[in-house]
Amino acid sequence: MIVTLTVNGELRSASVPPETTLLVMLREHLHLTGAKTGCDVGDCGACTVIVDGLAVNACLMLAAQADGRTVTTIEGLATREGLHPLQKVFEETGALQCGFCGPGVIMTSKALLDHTPEPTPQEIRTALTGNLCRCTGYVKMIEGVQEAAAMMRSPQSPALAGQSPALAAPEQK
Ligand code: FES
Ligand code: FES
Repeated sequence: MIVTLTVNGELRSASVPPETTLLVMLREHLHLTGAKTGCDVGDCGACTVIVDGLAVNACLMLAAQADGRTVTTIEGLATREGLHPLQKVFEETGALQCGFCGPGVIMTSKALLDHTPEPTPQEIRTALTGNLCRCTGYVKMIEGVQEAAAMMRSPQSPALAGQSPALAAPEQK
């Protein structure tokens, strides 16, 4: 079957078997390998992408279920002007160690910040319960999400200088 998605702002199509997951379509058919294959059964969150504004485990969603929908992957966050504030903060603060969980954590955090621009540490912790990290205690990650949120709320922030208007004033849902 032909599945067509809007991925990171571009219309992309692939011919896939009906049982193909969104994760396999992204990684193997569209060559977007930022979303990771961890458990493949919905336990680890390494495969998290955003579909129509919601963070989802791409290993649990059929590509057919995503047909016609809008998908954002980690590859879609940075702009020509620079990294997304979440990427920038995580890179600068060493919030991650091995990094395997990183794309999923960042996409879950982005979905949270798109809906909740000023989350509490508990709200961030709750949002990240589906993202397993075997290396860290989540403390730096949670601080990093709060720091990125502050940057995104403040268009004057030096970290956002040169970023697109969409980043300086994130779309509200
Ligand atoms: S690979 Fe999808 S939740 Fe683990
Ligand atoms: S940094 Fe290694 S799994 Fe999270």
